[in-house]
Amino acid sequence: MCDSSKQEQTLTSNDGNLNFWVDRWQANRIGFHRTFVSDLFKTHILPKLISSEEKKCVVFPLCGKTLDMKAVLDLGHRVIGIEGCKAGIEAFFNENNISYEIEKDENNQCEIYKGIECSVTIYSADVFTFNKSLPSVDYIWDRGGLVAINPSTREQYRDCLLRMMTPDQTRLFLVAINYNDPDFSGPPYVVNDDDVNHLFGSTCSSELVEVRDNTEEYRSREAARQINYIEERLHLIVRKQI
Ligand SMILES: C[S@@+](CC[C@H](N)C(=O)[O-])C[C@H]1O[C@@H](n2cnc3c(N)ncnc32)[C@H](O)[C@@H]1O
Repeated sequence: MCDSSKQEQTLTSNDGNLNFWVDRWQANRIGFHRTFVSDLFKTHILPKLISSEEKKCVVFPLCGKTLDMKAVLDLGHRVIGIEGCKAGIEAFFNENNISYEIEKDENNQCEIYKGIECSVTIYSADVFTFNKSLPSVDYIWDRGGLVAINPSTREQYRDCLLRMMTPDQTRLFLVAINYNDPDFSGPPYVVNDDDVNHLFGSTCSSELVEVRDNTEEYRSREAARQINYIEERLHLIVRKQI
């Protein structure tokens, strides 16, 4: 099922950054992938979904094959993902035994992977050129998104997120990363609180929800890189009414 042609898998990114990720998927260098549902996701999103009687829609920009999506589906809610590498998308469906079909979207020049028996849609697209209008989005879970892209493209990426956000409704949970290591500069890139304020301060309210020391887990996933200290800083961001 998995298309191994690099030429076909490579989508154009405005700074060439996506090629880097396609190479990583092809070489199976996906240390960013967690084999469990993220703790912060379990703490801050799942309880909201469990207690909701309405079906909620959760968007995962730069989704990879994260099991956080599977956790949402298991609760009967809706998942929308955006991922530039088909290998990651197909791995998500195949590894979780979710049957799917693929639709072409000629206008948007992307393919749309849709679950047949469950409510998951993953767009095979470069997030920077993604312009599909989405249904009303309740939550955006950005773990490994903003911190993964080239820092020079952050404002463009921020604008992609803002387009998906309904004022006063969509809750963007942004997992920022902080570390101080002279031998390593990313990805993941450091996104500090000032960066978050600079990006979202004029259009959104934001609140630092939790900070977690992630050093041990990071070291166990990225064994080759013995980083001194790394923490995840979870921000809740809500777009203001204009
Ligand atoms: C650090 S990984 C995080 C994946 C996932 N969010 C997780 O928590 O496991 C970043 C992902 O973004 C994808 N990606 C990078 N640049 C992209 C772009 N411009 N458009 C779409 N996807 C992109 C990569 O292929 C990769 O799967």
